[in-house]
Amino acid sequence: MTPLRTCRMCQGSVRQVLDLGRQPSANAFLPPAAVADEVYFHLAAGVCESCTLLQLMDETPQGLRYRDSYRYEASGSKGAQEHFERVADRLLATELTGADPFIVEIGCNDGVMLDSIARAGVRHLGIEPAKGVADLAEARGVTIINEFFGHSSAVDIRQLHGAADVIYGANTICSIADITGLMRGVDTLLSADGIFVFEEPYADTVVRGRAFDQIYDEHVFYFSVRSVEAMAERFGFELVDVEHVAQHGGELRYTLARAGVRTPSAAVLKQWHAEMEVDLTDPATLQQWSAAVHDTRDNLVALLRSLRADGRRVAGYGAPAKATTVTNFCGIGPDLLPFVCDSTPGKQGRLMPGSHIPIVSPGAFRDDYPEFVVLFAWNHADEIIAKEQAFRELGNKWIVYVPEVRII
Ligand code: TYD
Ligand code: ZN
Repeated sequence: MTPLRTCRMCQGSVRQVLDLGRQPSANAFLPPAAVADEVYFHLAAGVCESCTLLQLMDETPQGLRYRDSYRYEASGSKGAQEHFERVADRLLATELTGADPFIVEIGCNDGVMLDSIARAGVRHLGIEPAKGVADLAEARGVTIINEFFGHSSAVDIRQLHGAADVIYGANTICSIADITGLMRGVDTLLSADGIFVFEEPYADTVVRGRAFDQIYDEHVFYFSVRSVEAMAERFGFELVDVEHVAQHGGELRYTLARAGVRTPSAAVLKQWHAEMEVDLTDPATLQQWSAAVHDTRDNLVALLRSLRADGRRVAGYGAPAKATTVTNFCGIGPDLLPFVCDSTPGKQGRLMPGSHIPIVSPGAFRDDYPEFVVLFAWNHADEIIAKEQAFRELGNKWIVYVPEVRII
């Protein structure tokens, strides 16, 4: 029997389509002494047969995620920094132009986007539940509150600061399981002609693009134009724009306004038509997807085992949350990958969640190059391969696994 659950948005029936097994929280990077405290849960994705929303089958309580071990820093790559500067510049030029504009960011992380807003002297508020990264944002001069966003925080913010012209979120809206609380909060806080902009993992990238490593505890939802339209309508909003975003291997940015207030752009209809070609509820498409993901696992493990048998030196590059999904799904531990390197200071000296592979600095990687390196941060391939040219010039090889396992 295929496991079923109730859709978190429309109460329709969600059918499990991909099982990724027992997993820890993807950004919980442990100090070696804390391994015994690790929390595991079951990770599987399913599709709603009514609204098509791709979502996690199990609950992954948000209170367990953003604790001291949460080590994700959004400004961890040059590409991400430039991306969020562009987002801020555009919002400043197009939306935050009135007498005293106000922007709220849901899950501002280390303040990578709001930094530009703060420097422009525009009123803003970042809401960030993870204390470690909230402190980094504050140290940059960003105004923050250290809590989760929901209806009650929206009521408080509205009372204290007035309505927001823009509510923004990047890779955070998909993590709020309580869609009703989120949308009631947005309704309370947003001005009459304001916009709610969010950019999130895209169901099509995850399924047809085979980026199954986007699936982890934080990402409760994998949105699409169809499912976001359904969500907007339910709460009195309208999807008025959609854009492709290159971050995280290919995301969509959605702009919602109150229904009837703004004219939807041509891009909405165009993307809606593109999605109609892929029926996300089609069992054959989803079965193919699950089979392809299992092939990736088998091929990656076989490759790493044969490299080990040949005595080759192998490591990983980048310890993104995505790597937690891959290493735990594939059963890759320090026996196959003795270490990974990552540029985030807060991750170095810690262990990767579940797999317990030690994390070192990129400097340590450069001191003694391995011969083969699994590029876990594959979405930053251009930036990393350019930065690590010497690694390749010495004849060493990168291994990638999205959309399939390849040596490059
Ligand atoms: P990210 O792409 O934000 O992925 P996720 O959302 O899955 O965590 O994270 C990229 C990780 O890769 C982050 O830990 C920083 C690391 N990284 C490096 O170590 N070196 C680099 O040159 C780049 C670009 C990233
Ligand atoms: Zn649904």
